[in-house]
Amino acid sequence: MDKFVIEGGKRLKGEVTVSGSKNSCLPIFAATLLTDDACIIRDVPNLRDTNTMFKILRSLGKNVEFEKGKVRVTSTKNPINCIADYKLVSTMRASFCVLGPLLGRYKIAKVSLPGGCIIGLRPVDLHMKGFKALGASILMESGYVVAKAPRLKGNHIYLGGVFGSSVLATDNVMMAAALAKGKSIIEAAACEPEVADLAEFLIKMGAKIKGHGTPVIEIEGVKHLHAVDHTIIPDRIEAGTLLLASLITGGDILVRNAFSHHMGAFIDKMQEAGVNVIKTEKTMRLQPKKTLRPVNITTLPYPGFPTDMQAQMMALMSVTPGISVITEKIFPDRFMHVAELNRMGAHIQREGPHAIVEGMSKLLGAPVMASDLRASACLVLAGLAAKGKTSISRIYHLERGYENFDLKLQALGARVWREKE
Ligand code: EPZ
Repeated sequence: MDKFVIEGGKRLKGEVTVSGSKNSCLPIFAATLLTDDACIIRDVPNLRDTNTMFKILRSLGKNVEFEKGKVRVTSTKNPINCIADYKLVSTMRASFCVLGPLLGRYKIAKVSLPGGCIIGLRPVDLHMKGFKALGASILMESGYVVAKAPRLKGNHIYLGGVFGSSVLATDNVMMAAALAKGKSIIEAAACEPEVADLAEFLIKMGAKIKGHGTPVIEIEGVKHLHAVDHTIIPDRIEAGTLLLASLITGGDILVRNAFSHHMGAFIDKMQEAGVNVIKTEKTMRLQPKKTLRPVNITTLPYPGFPTDMQAQMMALMSVTPGISVITEKIFPDRFMHVAELNRMGAHIQREGPHAIVEGMSKLLGAPVMASDLRASACLVLAGLAAKGKTSISRIYHLERGYENFDLKLQALGARVWREKE
């Protein structure tokens, strides 16, 4: 296994281009199961998670070619196998969203329950609620969900959960409803840009969908979906992470391929912290006016502040003098990065779903361990700002969602390199 080693204290400067969105690609790859025709998907990042999804599609009987950011998914002669096995699904929760397309197209699906992960229990009750509302029978069989339906029928489905809307449940149910008989309405749908991107992909395949990006999505089922050629939206979380790398090192980075209209909550928080946000339609740059002010963060479903930026903001607040309170309303246990930041000299106290951060003037480099994707991004940011050397082990967590992150940072002047653990 590799680790990152970072010599902190370097101001990052220059330009960097954001890759395509991981959280847009994954459900879109699942949607290719809805047709036998060729599906072309462009601006696909080369990540652990995208490659895991390719393995799952191949295990289900699809041909997947991936070269220079372009993916071509076609059907093989063998019939689709409707079983997504535990070995693959347990490594990546998003693979659970192959269930909706398999059920919608083949009337049967056997998909391993994804299980929990370090950031929370990750239940799938809302996914099941949606499939049942469309007329599917659901059985649990030794850790697998077996869903069957002679023909799914459209329905009015309320998909709000105790933590608000669900991104992948909205994706899963929308894909199943695309081929159901009649009209479906998903109320309390997730509004994330990645959900809207999936809907745009489905519409290009011939699906009839309206309201995507809002809490009410209408789907008029069709009989057949066809070939598609689609370019993935940029990754707003990578964009935010790179912008914070600029800020936390006192540098000046121009981030390209960053859709500022997908990042309203982040921009608002930056302005509250005393940062000048210079943006065009597809570029962003952060310039602190004077010293940064501490800000309080509460994570919420889109368009609220994204939970996937919580850990990265905590790194910035750890070196912003003053007190900031970070409240995690989506995954209340998503605080594995707190202990590691404290090992670097941060002063963070955990109180249930809150983390109280007392910003210090400096962090000190130390050996730390990545535990999940966004916690590893947080530790990279902390290492870039810290005095001295930081080594981050288990960096495979970072490689799940950030394409060539060490190379991108090196090109901006960061002293970061890989070593064998
Ligand atoms: C997606 O996960 C993202 N993953 C996550 O990004 C992101 O953190 C999350 O949405 C929230 O924005 C992908 O898109 C591949 P949810 P998802 O269902 O869909 C609860 C990253 O770092 N819930 O929107 O699995 C759930 O426990 C990853 O890139 C239920 O209660 O998340 C959580 O508290 C991490 N029942 C809340 O809803 C359900 O059936 C939101 O989760 C489903 C979810």
